[in-house]
Amino acid sequence: MDRIRIQGGNRLEGRIPIGGAKNAALPLMAASLLTDEQLALSNLPHLADISTLANLLSGHGVAIHMVGEETNEGHVGRVLGLQAKEITSTTAPYELVRRMRASVLVLGALLARAGQAEVSLPGGCAIGTRPVDLHLKGLQQLGAEIELREGYIHASAKKGLHGARFVFPFVSVGATENLLMAAVLARGETELANAAREPEVVDLAACLATMGAKIEGAGTDTIRVQGVDRLHGGTHAVIPDRIETGTYAMAAAITGGDIVLEGARLGQIGALAEILTEAGVTLEEVPGGLRVHRRNADLTGVNVMTEPFPGFPTDMQAQMMALMSTATTASMITETIFENRFMHVPEMNRMGADIAVHGASAMVRGVTGLVGAEVMATDLRASVSLVLAGLVADGETVVHRVYHLDRGYERLEEKLAACGAEIERLKH
Ligand code: EPZ
Repeated sequence: MDRIRIQGGNRLEGRIPIGGAKNAALPLMAASLLTDEQLALSNLPHLADISTLANLLSGHGVAIHMVGEETNEGHVGRVLGLQAKEITSTTAPYELVRRMRASVLVLGALLARAGQAEVSLPGGCAIGTRPVDLHLKGLQQLGAEIELREGYIHASAKKGLHGARFVFPFVSVGATENLLMAAVLARGETELANAAREPEVVDLAACLATMGAKIEGAGTDTIRVQGVDRLHGGTHAVIPDRIETGTYAMAAAITGGDIVLEGARLGQIGALAEILTEAGVTLEEVPGGLRVHRRNADLTGVNVMTEPFPGFPTDMQAQMMALMSTATTASMITETIFENRFMHVPEMNRMGADIAVHGASAMVRGVTGLVGAEVMATDLRASVSLVLAGLVADGETVVHRVYHLDRGYERLEEKLAACGAEIERLKH
């Protein structure tokens, strides 16, 4: 298994191209199931999760081919053509779904297009139990019959789906996306209340609209959909990855560096930009991107609570904790989205951080210096937080199990090394 070795202490300076958003790309790819025409997606990142979903979609009959590559401010994104002339199988098997929970996103689209779907129950994962009950309840509201048997969700809508009102008891990004994809081909009007407002949901709605869907209110907590008989193909560019942007902003901040994040804009990272500014980091829009720097300014502890968009994202919590570990004052970081997303804490403490977890909150007391160590990655964002800590730690850090990183960060070592980090991937 690959490892990443970092020799800490270098101030990072340079430019980093930001790729297309993984969490926008996955539902967009699933949307290709909704039409028999081609959906061309540009600015797709090269990531393991994208390949996993491509495999799953091929099994449903989606023909996938590279339409080309495009260069956007130094980032080479793939343009992929996805065409599901016919749905050849409505089963999403365990072997693929267990590798990536987002596979459950094919459920709504398969049901809407083919009237049935058998999708393996995704099960829990390192960051929490992560049930899919909201996806199922919402689809039932739209007329689906659902049974759970032998580890699979068996869903059918023999007479097609119909519009309905569904109120989410709490915000779920994936369930909003799944219901949106089901509703666009359902008969009549659907209203999704307390819907997720994440930019990735807005991007999905925009793509569906170019395919002929009738959607209003994406980006607010009430989304209205008028079902149509069919969707056609289209072309859509995936939005820049706000979590990748935030992660490299943290790399600049934690090393007291100065980095331009190419293709990123302040508006994409909202709450995070405010928190970083409060902590003593400067963010400014410059031609072609977002400049993030912290020259000679101390880092101040800032309290953070994760919340659905537009609040502070849970996908930035671990990275924020690495940053706060080096602040001059203490901070409290509270995780409200996932119940088990503090697995980076013991690893950071092994690097000399002073973090104490009390339930859903972590008290982070800034230390004067972190020390390199061998550490274990447990999930995608936890892994990258250890890399951030390694960038500023004294001596050598080796992060094990970096396959987690490859799910969501494209060419991470290369991008950081180009800004002066001493970082390399060790094979096996
Ligand atoms: C998406 O996951 C992201 N994944 C996650 O990113 C992200 O952390 C999360 O949204 C929150 O922002 C993708 O977009 C592919 P949710 P999702 O449904 O949709 C509970 C990363 O690192 N819940 O908004 O699965 C759930 O357990 C990943 O890139 C139910 O109880 O998240 C969680 O506590 C990790 N029942 C909360 O809701 C349900 O039916 C929010 O989850 C659905 C969710």
